[in-house]
Amino acid sequence: MAARPLFIILSLLSATFLFTFTCARNGPLAQIMDSTSTVGGNYTRVCDAARFLDHGLNISDFAYCDTSLSYEVRVKDLVDRMTLSEKVNQIGDTAYGVPRIGLPRYEWWSEALHGVSDVGQWNSKASFFDDVVHGATSFPTPISAAASFNQSLWKNIGQAVSTEARAMHNLGHAGLTFWSPNINVVRDPRWGRALETPGEDPFVVGEYAANYVRGLQDVEGTDNVTDLNSRPIKVAACCKHYAAYDVDNWLGVERYNFDARVTEQDMQETFLKPFEMCVKEGDVMSVMCSYNKINGIPACADARLLRDKIRGEWDLHGYIVSDCDSIEVMINHHKWLKDEPEDAVAQALKAGLDLDCGNYYTNYARNSIRKGKVGEKDIDVALKNLYIVLMRLGFFDGSPQFEKLDMTNVCSDEHIELATEAAREGIVLLKNDNQALPLSTDKIKTIAVIGPHANATSAMIGNYAGVPCRYTSPIDGLAKYGKVIYEMGCEDVSCKNDSMIIPAVQAAKKADATVMVVGIDLSIEAESLDREDLLLPGYQDELINQVAAQSKGPVLVVIMSAGGVDVSFAKASSKVHSILWAGYPGEEGGQAIADVVFGKYNPGGRLPLTWHENEYIDMLPMTSMHLRPVDHLGYPGRTYKFHSSSSVYPFGYGLSYTNFTYSLVSSTESLQVQLNKFQHCRELNYTEGSYKPACPAILIDDLQCDEHHNVELNIEVKNVGERDGSEVVIVYWVPPSGIADAPIKQVVAFKRVFVAAGKSEKVSFVLNACKSLGVVDYKGYNLMPSGGAGFIIGDNMLKVPVRIDFQH
Ligand SMILES: *[C@@H]1O[C@H](CO)[C@@H](O)[C@H](O)[C@H]1NC(C)=O
Ligand SMILES: *[C@@H]1O[C@H](CO)[C@@H](O)[C@H](O)[C@H]1NC(C)=O
Ligand SMILES: *[C@@H]1O[C@H](CO)[C@@H](O)[C@H](O)[C@H]1NC(C)=O
Ligand SMILES: *[C@@H]1O[C@H](CO)[C@@H](O)[C@H](O)[C@H]1NC(C)=O
Ligand SMILES: *[C@@H]1O[C@H](CO)[C@@H](O)[C@H](O)[C@H]1NC(C)=O
Ligand SMILES: *[C@@H]1O[C@H](CO)[C@@H](O)[C@H](O)[C@H]1NC(C)=O
Ligand SMILES: *[C@@H]1O[C@H](CO)[C@@H](O)[C@H](O)[C@H]1NC(C)=O
Repeated sequence: MAARPLFIILSLLSATFLFTFTCARNGPLAQIMDSTSTVGGNYTRVCDAARFLDHGLNISDFAYCDTSLSYEVRVKDLVDRMTLSEKVNQIGDTAYGVPRIGLPRYEWWSEALHGVSDVGQWNSKASFFDDVVHGATSFPTPISAAASFNQSLWKNIGQAVSTEARAMHNLGHAGLTFWSPNINVVRDPRWGRALETPGEDPFVVGEYAANYVRGLQDVEGTDNVTDLNSRPIKVAACCKHYAAYDVDNWLGVERYNFDARVTEQDMQETFLKPFEMCVKEGDVMSVMCSYNKINGIPACADARLLRDKIRGEWDLHGYIVSDCDSIEVMINHHKWLKDEPEDAVAQALKAGLDLDCGNYYTNYARNSIRKGKVGEKDIDVALKNLYIVLMRLGFFDGSPQFEKLDMTNVCSDEHIELATEAAREGIVLLKNDNQALPLSTDKIKTIAVIGPHANATSAMIGNYAGVPCRYTSPIDGLAKYGKVIYEMGCEDVSCKNDSMIIPAVQAAKKADATVMVVGIDLSIEAESLDREDLLLPGYQDELINQVAAQSKGPVLVVIMSAGGVDVSFAKASSKVHSILWAGYPGEEGGQAIADVVFGKYNPGGRLPLTWHENEYIDMLPMTSMHLRPVDHLGYPGRTYKFHSSSSVYPFGYGLSYTNFTYSLVSSTESLQVQLNKFQHCRELNYTEGSYKPACPAILIDDLQCDEHHNVELNIEVKNVGERDGSEVVIVYWVPPSGIADAPIKQVVAFKRVFVAAGKSEKVSFVLNACKSLGVVDYKGYNLMPSGGAGFIIGDNMLKVPVRIDFQH
């Protein structure tokens, strides 16, 4: 094989990956590529008799096309027909196919983070746009969708995206395997990829993952299929990046050379939790391992993490893929074990990595086997995992239930409305002095719309986007409610020049109301770009202050960002009446903002991550992975679970145009857990002077949790204001006091409920004690503690005690 070039070209635009340009792509393999037809054109499935005839083959000679056999048997037939060289040609993101046996090429790499995207391998994109398919619906970025705290919305978005993906697939414009969503927890407010994620809470992230994945993958009417290895799939999703991946590029520490030093406690409780939920509750088809090392071992070569955990313990019914060029990263960046490519390939295969996004498997697996570093059977296992997924996707047999989908299903009115609805649900009202919002069209005829994001378009769709159907920018949206006077105020978000402030002030002096749309974008927070601070860049603060000081009408600041922004000055200013956070709200973001500003929609979103003060980041390096405070180094805790000191706005914060009150209807006051003689008491560390029960805790894995272990909470939410609205009810579990290093509180359930003005709704939660009432000890064991614990509902709206006792 040709030698690899010494340099690596990094993609400046969105990518999960290093773009590497290698000779192999143009070398001998190119001929194989060219001589192989993809499914597409006249054929929508591999096992089409006419397709075989075109290749001079008779389909009845190939048992892998015999639908009377199980997928397992068919895949074995397929794999057994391949030579070793043919096998290794199928385990990279481009699977080259085997024309000899009728197997076409397949491109594994497509993305659908918040809509079908055209991000992927530069020279062989599986999903793309052109004159036939102009664009696809671009939903809010995950951080914005997460702020809705609405599980059914997440699932509905997944369903719409997979419908568009299937329609594009029918037109030869999309693959079937999508490497989305990104479910890494935002541990540090500087992380550049917060926009791709559902925020800082592992449970919320896991719920998002399970719902979005089910939306993408589930085929309606197949919920009762019991064999999870043959359940049909609409499109295959992928939860990434596994694991402890949340440093992109901070002061020269890059994801390619970063060794995340993670305690077992943080690993189980925070970094693995969303992936466990994605696999067990979402039944995701794929997990992607990350570039970084974890405690010295590259994630993609760690058998304990891949083979034992994902496939063994969690029982993945799908395949494990590497982040793109991760194997090369092991060698060239991590210099792992001074490996040669053949060693790294062998380690990854043995660790359970089925598919290499890249060409290390394709280029080196053959030699690796020849040298005895890994067995051919390891490749057979990988191929089985891969082709069963393609069988379940209908790649071989077709998918009659989706064959009718076409262009009318892409960018449909229904999907554009869902994108708008999602953006509205994700908008968070942070400040609203004297109920300055909503604005009334009776009083407000002219609106000064000011700021670098006033005419935002591509900024609203963030990264891993495709081509949207269209954009509705803030000025477009607001123009539907009044006459807009538009002033940029700054050239762009960096706002390095204050010369545009004066015209902005002039506009605000004339208009009946002022809406400033400010914030950051991918030039500040992005893949391969962590943030340097949490402030608004350049003269943006100055712009806000000067415009606010001289505005004629009410002043609203709308912030576009994924991570929190330290806007303490605006929060404190009596001249800034209202603040909205719009995240990166997708193609219809401007419409959603306008609908909220003018009260057509009452905002109910909540912050999915803490908005820290800028000083916070000076207190600890981004590379310290600890969630808990590190006392001897003076590091504060991370996320609301371990950081209780002041913040600009806390996790879960968000106001409404109405007010809600909560009252407790009933709750389970105590839980008696019957132990058998094999269930031993476990020790827990308690802080000095705290009461320590005789039997502090038991191992949750030892319990058979059934309905006798459920804890119920029934509450009533009353809308005591004058407007209808949606309220997000968040339930936090508070472990018994005195347990050393336990979280302050942690989300165990949430529901978004609509309550009409003056009305009440009963909201019930049934929590399984094994899932919800645990603490993870310093060794990573999930324990149920005994004693007096409780729940906090909402922002200290209700405190509900619960006692846990063990009985032998
Ligand atoms: C394919 O093979 C089957 C079984 O051997 C045979 O009955 C059939 O006629 C063949 N079809 C063609 C087109 O040759
Ligand atoms: C949750 O989202 C769905 C859209 O999927 C929407 O119909 C519903 O009204 C939302 N729930 C609330 C309470 O806002
Ligand atoms: C699945 O099973 C449930 C409960 O037995 C039943 O109500 C439902 O109709 C079934 N769904 C399908 C698609 O068969
Ligand atoms: C808003 O941005 C779009 C796209 O960049 C541009 O075509 C349009 O002219 C801008 N509108 C104004 C009023 O500047
Ligand atoms: C700011 O912009 C104005 C108008 O475009 C220009 O005259 C001035 O030189 C710029 N100032 C700086 C510091 O770049
Ligand atoms: C909600 O209640 C607070 C505190 O009583 C009050 O100041 C505020 O005006 C109320 N807001 C609405 C929209 O009713
Ligand atoms: C208590 O914490 C210390 C470390 O701080 C650890 O060495 C010890 O084993 C812990 N004991 C228990 C029971 O968790």
